[in-house]
Amino acid sequence: LSSTEIDISSIQPGQAIKTSWRKQPIFVRNLVAKEIAEAKAVPLSDLRDPQTLDERTKPGKENWLITLGVCTHLGCVPLGAGEGENRGPFGGYFCPCHGSAYDTAARIRQGPAPRNLEVPPYEFTSDTVVTIG
Ligand code: FES
Repeated sequence: LSSTEIDISSIQPGQAIKTSWRKQPIFVRNLVAKEIAEAKAVPLSDLRDPQTLDERTKPGKENWLITLGVCTHLGCVPLGAGEGENRGPFGGYFCPCHGSAYDTAARIRQGPAPRNLEVPPYEFTSDTVVTIG
């Protein structure tokens, strides 16, 4: 009913796209090895909303970071996927409204947002198709 299929086969390593689900923006990002390593190197004690990259991705698919594109401060759409290549000081996403910066696991690292970008419910239907919802 309210699920959405996304073909991820054309999303290149390093690329992030913006799509939508239930009228909300969704970011789908194909992380490169360096971005995965950066996310894994951060001690949980440095995080405002402590979660590992593994908790935010599927087993064996840690390069696919799928989140809502909704800043957890006041709901702006951060930059870094599809529109605007400003990924901010932590290399993930950057919210231009009040300066919240997210890292390569889309975890909040700086600015007023209280929580990481939310990971929606989703599954890999195949190696190239993700069903959200
Ligand atoms: Fe993103 Fe305020 S809405 S920083």
